[in-house]
Amino acid sequence: MDLEREFERVVAADHRIEPRDWMPDGYRKTLIRQIAQHAHSEIIGMQPEGNWISRAPSLRRKAILLAKVQDEAGHGLYLYAATETLGADREDLTTKLIEGRQKYSSIFNYPTLTFADVGVIGWLVDGAAICNQVPLCRTSYGPYARAMIRVCKEESFHQRQGYELLMTMMRGTDAQKAMVQDAVNRWWWPSLMMFGPPDAESSNTEQSMVWRIKRHTNDELRQRFVDMSVPQAEKLGVTLPDPKIAWNAERGHHDFGDIDWDEFWQVVKGDGPCNAERIENRRKAHEDGAWVREAAAAYAAKKERVA
Ligand SMILES: [Fe+2]
Ligand SMILES: [Fe+2]
Repeated sequence: MDLEREFERVVAADHRIEPRDWMPDGYRKTLIRQIAQHAHSEIIGMQPEGNWISRAPSLRRKAILLAKVQDEAGHGLYLYAATETLGADREDLTTKLIEGRQKYSSIFNYPTLTFADVGVIGWLVDGAAICNQVPLCRTSYGPYARAMIRVCKEESFHQRQGYELLMTMMRGTDAQKAMVQDAVNRWWWPSLMMFGPPDAESSNTEQSMVWRIKRHTNDELRQRFVDMSVPQAEKLGVTLPDPKIAWNAERGHHDFGDIDWDEFWQVVKGDGPCNAERIENRRKAHEDGAWVREAAAAYAAKKERVA
């Protein structure tokens, strides 16, 4: 009881819970699930853009894209390390991902059809990730909050590189401009879905807010993202594929149209355009890397014998 009161006091005072502190089982489980899902998203998220590394239109674009995709691998690693501070086992998490028992962000189940998709992913997908992740820098679990500070700095570079890429294409030929518009049309709605189901249907939100794991609801963050993106789209010269977007002076926010939640649930449940391919690639990469894990384990065992 004392331990529980102390936990509640620390959380309510906006201080951090650290790995050795007592925490309720549900808090630990919620965090492992959320951070693992986040880590899986970073790692699976390397695939759609990785698809364009070998076909980038210039050496400069290739170097930028390589650096960006590599950053995502780093994000995945910090986050898996954060789950380990909660007692999770990384091998177990990877198995759960490959067997479909843990999820990753459904946005990465859409295909990248042209190089403009690289720009739009940076602008919208990394942009949505920033809206989601900036508040996580103040989340109640210390290792997660600290990992997010660095992750967010890199995400903001990702967003700017995407926007700069699109700006360049929008100064180009009509065909290039059409490619950008087409990519925006395909990615806009899935980006809005990245914030998760509407608050009324979000089963985890309430408890996570009490524990200060989450600091804003899905709908609040989605609104913030729409408000941020509308002027950026105008400046870029693209049209967001939603005729209902309009400034609402009374609310002080942009109104927007209804999201197709059937599509969202279909993709979440495994029936998106690329779900099977993403998991199959991950499974193969994991198997191909088995020798590295075996060698590392053998080396560690040998060092222990010598010591
Ligand atoms: Fe990332
Ligand atoms: Fe990113």
